[in-house]
Amino acid sequence: MLLHIPDILRREEVARFRTALDQADWADGRETVGSLGAQVKRNQQLPDQSPLKAELGQHILAALARNPLYFAAALPLKTMAPRFNRYAGGGEYGFHVDGAVMRADGDAHVRSDLSCTLFLCDPEDYEGGELIISDTYGEHEVKLPAGDAILYPSSSLHRVAPVTRGERVASFFWVQSMVRDDGSRRMLFELDASIERLRSSGADAGAVLQLTGLYHNLLRRWAET
Ligand code: NI
Repeated sequence: MLLHIPDILRREEVARFRTALDQADWADGRETVGSLGAQVKRNQQLPDQSPLKAELGQHILAALARNPLYFAAALPLKTMAPRFNRYAGGGEYGFHVDGAVMRADGDAHVRSDLSCTLFLCDPEDYEGGELIISDTYGEHEVKLPAGDAILYPSSSLHRVAPVTRGERVASFFWVQSMVRDDGSRRMLFELDASIERLRSSGADAGAVLQLTGLYHNLLRRWAET
């Protein structure tokens, strides 16, 4: 499931991020991929040890924790520290698949069930730079307003089209979900949304309670914690 999550960051937060990121020391993005990825990756990233990366990443994680749509869709168990990248002057990242298991801080590992890109530039600020996600339904081009995010299965092939004008700055991170299977997670998300609609439209309280019980019992069946 591809899901657009609007307004993870407010406009003034995005502006503060951009001011800090414009002054940051960026490194070659090829430092953080294997040899296959390095052949197709032409961008810049904040280095792993960057204090700014840690600070802005914490801010994003706090914003995600307040976002009910994100929680309902991702059912996050573990989240990798957000990273930041910048594409300009024809920079691109060709088709690739994200690594399945990521090394987090310390000895912890995170299985990448979901990938998330949080846009920090508005679409009119740059040319190209679409995130192109390929799945069984074809290719989807994604270019969202600053502060919005796209959540997509890490199992998909994806690429970032060349940026031919301006620059594209974004944050990205991986999530291990409590519910590993994309299809099961999607059904829970849809059930959750319909329960919410029934509740707010004043539907029969007993039926809403029964459906809520069903949601939790399915989650209990499928969740790994
Ligand atoms: Ni990727």
